[in-house]
Amino acid sequence: MQASARDTPSPQPNAVYLPLSRFPTSDSLGSFNGAPFPMSDRMSETSNSLGLRRILVTSALPNANGSIHLGHLLEHIQTDIWVRFQRMRGHECVYICADDTHGAATMLRAEELDTTPEALIDEVRLEHERDFKDFLISHDNYYSTHSEENREFSSLIYERLKDADKIRTREVEQLYDPERTIFLADRFIVGGCPRCKSEGQYGDNCEVCGATYDATDLINPVSKISGAVPELRTSTHFFFALSEFNSFLQSWTRSGTLHDQVANKLAEWLDEGLQDWDISRDAPYFGFEIPGEENKFFYVWLDAPIGYMASFKNYCDQVGLDFDAWWQPDSTCEVHHFIGKDIINFHALFWPAMLKTAGFRTPTRVHAHGFITVDGQKMSKSRGTFINARTYLDHLAPEYLRYYFATKLSDSIDDLDMNLEDFVQRVNSDLVGKVVNIASRCAGFVKKQGGHLAPTCDNPLNTGFVSQANVIAEAYEAGNVGKAIRQIMAMADQANQFIADAAPWQMAKEEGKEADVLSVCTDGINAFRILVIFLKPILPSLAEKSETFLNVPPLSWSDLDHLLVDHKINKFKPLMSRIEQKDVDAMISAGKSPAKEMHVADSPVKDEDVDTIEFDDFAKVDLRVAKIVAAEHVDGADKLLRLTLDLGAGQRQVFAGIKAAYQPEDLAGRLTVMVANLAPRKMRFGVSEGMVLAAGPGGKDLFLLSPDSGAEPGMEVK
Ligand code: 2FM
Ligand code: ZN
Repeated sequence: MQASARDTPSPQPNAVYLPLSRFPTSDSLGSFNGAPFPMSDRMSETSNSLGLRRILVTSALPNANGSIHLGHLLEHIQTDIWVRFQRMRGHECVYICADDTHGAATMLRAEELDTTPEALIDEVRLEHERDFKDFLISHDNYYSTHSEENREFSSLIYERLKDADKIRTREVEQLYDPERTIFLADRFIVGGCPRCKSEGQYGDNCEVCGATYDATDLINPVSKISGAVPELRTSTHFFFALSEFNSFLQSWTRSGTLHDQVANKLAEWLDEGLQDWDISRDAPYFGFEIPGEENKFFYVWLDAPIGYMASFKNYCDQVGLDFDAWWQPDSTCEVHHFIGKDIINFHALFWPAMLKTAGFRTPTRVHAHGFITVDGQKMSKSRGTFINARTYLDHLAPEYLRYYFATKLSDSIDDLDMNLEDFVQRVNSDLVGKVVNIASRCAGFVKKQGGHLAPTCDNPLNTGFVSQANVIAEAYEAGNVGKAIRQIMAMADQANQFIADAAPWQMAKEEGKEADVLSVCTDGINAFRILVIFLKPILPSLAEKSETFLNVPPLSWSDLDHLLVDHKINKFKPLMSRIEQKDVDAMISAGKSPAKEMHVADSPVKDEDVDTIEFDDFAKVDLRVAKIVAAEHVDGADKLLRLTLDLGAGQRQVFAGIKAAYQPEDLAGRLTVMVANLAPRKMRFGVSEGMVLAAGPGGKDLFLLSPDSGAEPGMEVK
């Protein structure tokens, strides 16, 4: 039998102990991965004398107005690998996250769906949690920024900033939508670029020539919400006096908290001098009202990072951890944030300055990563490469992606490419062709001899592998997972070569060679076990299946200090199957959904897709002439009309957002064009069985398409 981490350090008679550097064992402290337990009576309030660390880890909080996609997955997989590695090393590592719920975008998205922001964020949170769980992301708590804890911390921090005289007010001139009565954030305004004159550019920068400007400089600006021409209006805003933190941030950003590449970038901004930061937004806004003020709300980016603390507090209250021990200014616990490079300023400037002023500790390290591209280009809906978590999971196993991303991870902020051909090839060749192959080549021969491993294992191959443990651990610690994988795969090659040279299948044909066969296969199985330990942070499910096959308790890093001998293993079952190209193709086709409406104007990702589609793609959309038999108001819906449409062969009910543009009585009897094969969509008021086509920016400016007279209901539009 194997000596498990639970048994160590007392040596087991039937395990071979290796001369390794000693690792802490997680189980001497209780499991951090399973059911929560009160830590306070088991651990000191800070890192303990064994060198065990107490680490809080976060991934950036996903927005609550969109689905989880490859970009989020890259970050959560990167974080999860780091977290699982720390836990395997025996450290106490708490991984928390939450949905980032506030802002005008959530409010407008809810309106568009005829629901409330609260109902929307609850629904989205469930979807996000499910997606992450299915990608084996081991969050200890997945919470929401729209929580009482977050309201309290946001108010507390704001009050402390105010007490420290770091809050200022100033009059701000901003574009205002007079129809929707709302101040407009840059992404809700479009117009002509003041530099190259390209039309349809957002309020902050031009996607054609790259110019950056103020929304007020746009030519003929229009509100994306109502289509109205915005007006300039003035209102009072609250500012955090970031300009007074230059010298603190100069030293904080150079104190080991950031990669040099990131610190250098920030140094450019710091050298120019920082501006005060606008932390308020006027009503209407979905968020927390600023204490003591009327119709003023905290800007979503103020309460979003505070959401890390709120989610952690919520976790502490569930499991009995002492929140203050982690967040007091002199805490020796660690706080690590994993984020994309686009939000470095929020995490490495605003956030530490706020925490410091409010009397909390600052982060230990901010780990920033680059963006993901697919086949060398930005993710694109029309190419089917804007892949949502669920679309991926409908076709492929999560560990393929975990492994592929892992091969690309480094500590730099360079972008990472997911090349779909390389993805298939890499996973099949490394995991199925190399790692799993080691076990499958040896297992049958052990089974034939009763399933019992040899009593000794002294092949230098395995001691050589184990001697690499520190190098691999350092690579994981530094985020250089790609480097760790290159080393692990070199070992897998060596193990396969050893088995090929020893050729147990040849020996098995010879009389009296049973002990030799068993010895080779025991070496092979041990090599496999070591590689599984090294890969476990990346491939938790493969590791679990391997633990069942090896008949051992959950493997941890300290299990590298012995080999498996004189031990009964279980029947080998396939641990991983090859990726089929057809499944990748099917995922890409599914990603080419015509449902652009899913990504509304306020989506965090701008729709950059203006490229062409094939005729076959167009032909998938079944456009038909439809006669509006009846049109009615819908109780409780601000924007919708219920249309009953005659399609020749039957009738359909469609909810159309055209109330501001049409009176129901003007529609009955008219012909229009509808998408007849759109999947039915359940709405609050009933099921919508298609979509009518209209042109225009929205609001009053919507124009239903009409065929020329002579067209009949049900005719195909080609
Ligand atoms: O960029 C984003 O998607 C933000 N929702 C990230 C927030 S991270 C943290 F500060 F909350
Ligand atoms: Zn331009």
